[in-house]
Amino acid sequence: MSASTVAAGTGIELDDIQGLLRFGFKHHTEAVFLLLQVKDAAAACQWLGQVPLTNSVSLDPIPTTVVQVALSSAGMRALGVGAEVLGGFSEEFLQGMTGDPNRARRLGDVGENSSDKWDWGSGKRVPHVAVLLYALPGHLDAFQRSIETQCTAGFELLYRLPTTDMGTVEPFGFADGLSQPELDWPRLIPAADQEQLAYRNSSCLGEFILGYPNEYGLYTPRPLLDARRDPEGSLPRAEESPDSADVGRNGTYLVLRHLRQDVRGFWQEIDKRARGAAVERERLASQIVGRTLSGEPIVADGGTDNSFTFESDPHGQRCPVGAHIRRANPRNADLPPGGLGVISWLLKTLGFNSCARARDLAASTRFHRLLRRGREYGVRLTPAEALSAPPAESGLHFICLNANIQRQFEFVQGAWLMSTKFNGLHEESDPLLGNRLAGAAGTRCDYFSLPQADGPAQRLEGLPQFVTVTGGAYFFLPGIRALRFLAQLGTRSS
Ligand code: HEM
Repeated sequence: MSASTVAAGTGIELDDIQGLLRFGFKHHTEAVFLLLQVKDAAAACQWLGQVPLTNSVSLDPIPTTVVQVALSSAGMRALGVGAEVLGGFSEEFLQGMTGDPNRARRLGDVGENSSDKWDWGSGKRVPHVAVLLYALPGHLDAFQRSIETQCTAGFELLYRLPTTDMGTVEPFGFADGLSQPELDWPRLIPAADQEQLAYRNSSCLGEFILGYPNEYGLYTPRPLLDARRDPEGSLPRAEESPDSADVGRNGTYLVLRHLRQDVRGFWQEIDKRARGAAVERERLASQIVGRTLSGEPIVADGGTDNSFTFESDPHGQRCPVGAHIRRANPRNADLPPGGLGVISWLLKTLGFNSCARARDLAASTRFHRLLRRGREYGVRLTPAEALSAPPAESGLHFICLNANIQRQFEFVQGAWLMSTKFNGLHEESDPLLGNRLAGAAGTRCDYFSLPQADGPAQRLEGLPQFVTVTGGAYFFLPGIRALRFLAQLGTRSS
């Protein structure tokens, strides 16, 4: 879709939205993420006030290099952004990813994933600013050097996250980046389309961009200021409240998790269970993910088409209910299917069952979608190489964008991926990501159920941990005008 068709009559300010929201920058196969802390607020604000950012208008002509900037709440405080603005951001953003034991438990950041073991992201190592750099092949090194030099006056470099181009495959060897929600750029989805129970892949803009209506037909809370605070009109005005200057509009929250993958451990474990048989090894691995190595969904036959649902496989005999993609996006398989669904829908519509309705709506996948923008790092190995190679460092710099961290990222991570009680399953969590740490009463979570058509489910027992969290933080990826505004606030207060 061209930029002009998107923008015409929709009121979307594509030139104010950082490009990462609209583009994955796939041609920019080189990337590095710089995590910075503010050393000199005035110098930091000066840099943030003028750094050229690629917007969402068009990638034609394709820029050789791209910069995107996101700020954490600690970063905003360090820049001198005041309470009036900060107070409008969400609670979880203000608190940050670490520091609250309940949040850590829900996200699975306990045991080996505990934030006191992280390389960055907790205590004094919380980043203030994430600078995401992307470049066409051969252009990253010089660009990175120049940006790092520009940043020395205002910032300390806390951590560098280099990436490796693995060619659309993640380190375990599976095709990645296949399923993404489609953003409703033409704004065709009617507001408050609340009874929409069937699975669809398109999402209201407000699920991913603040300042536009979300799937509830509402505007997600964000910092709105009396327009008199912005007499020059440097900020956009709020759609639903034109007297307010909108600091959130055209921005979104960015979740970054540094996930180390034990590629050798993964394939050795699967090989052991497959008794060394290559075909069985691949079959079991694809049941864990829910897609084959080349990306075909195992619930559907053939192709990597993304329009499938799990409706034809309610018991998970083809794609286990606990497979990674089925937990991460149940595609409404958590709603009652067929006729039952209609009856319960009627009951709910007539108002006889309002509790169930709230539950169903909360579980419906369209309120829990993530726009994934992660990049791989480390050494790329094929499964066969991984079985015999010496251990090597690799993993995923997981990035997702969402307008509501609690309802989107934290819900998917906590209630679906990490929960040991998901969709009728118990004593198991995500087979790829689970930390396998027994619960308070010694309850195990290292099983993986493989339902069978002709008998009781087969249950794998004692799965080890394959993915370890080694860093993470919540950021705000502001609209471009809002970034300049925040930088100006900082300059004034310092
Ligand atoms: C190292 C860690 C991870 C690995 C290796 C991994 C791997 C994969 C793979 C191979 C797919 C299928 C291909 C695709 O649809 O793009 C996938 C899908 C997905 N993953 Fe992950 N993932 C990881 C972490 C996470 C985390 C932390 C989350 C969310 C909190 C997540 C959420 C999703 C979602 C939402 C999908 C798409 C599901 C669908 O719509 O069908 N993943 N992942």
